Amino acid sequence: MVILEDVKTPSHQSKQQRYKQLLTQVRNLISHEDDLTANLANVAAALHFTMDFDWTGFYVVQNDELVLGPFQGPPAVTRISLGKGVCGTALARECTIIVDDLEQFPGYVPCSEMDKSEISLPAFHRGEVAVILNVNSHKMKNFDEMDKRYLEELMRVLEEVL
Ligand code: SME
Repeated sequence: MVILEDVKTPSHQSKQQRYKQLLTQVRNLISHEDDLTANLANVAAALHFTMDFDWTGFYVVQNDELVLGPFQGPPAVTRISLGKGVCGTALARECTIIVDDLEQFPGYVPCSEMDKSEISLPAFHRGEVAVILNVNSHKMKNFDEMDKRYLEELMRVLEEVL
């Protein structure tokens, strides 16, 4: 079992090095556990502290609605409808959504006044979106193609236990 102290990554490492290490750590964290809440909680914590994000968490799909799951960061909205906000849009479109400037995103559902950009990604079970990962940053344009590539890879790893 890997404990959370082990997932903290030295700050001198590049973003790509951190993501590669994170993926290895996540495979270890979830490989011996089949409880969804336990796995989402550990993945949220590993991702949040390895990548030093400002809010990192999951929304779980229940009856075409998103319900707040395990996360790291300030309290957040508990339910998001299909098509609403960044997360509901990722659910409706079944794809990754990157928002460089949240003020420019119609229908954005605020979490913290300090959030400036975010990324939301779906994870699938039997061809349907089961979980949405949402990550927020206090910096504009914080998420790029590298984040998309590695976080999508992370969703494929997570799908193995959905
Ligand atoms: N901003 C998200 C809502 C979730 S919180 O940011 C944690 C959205 O627009 O869907």
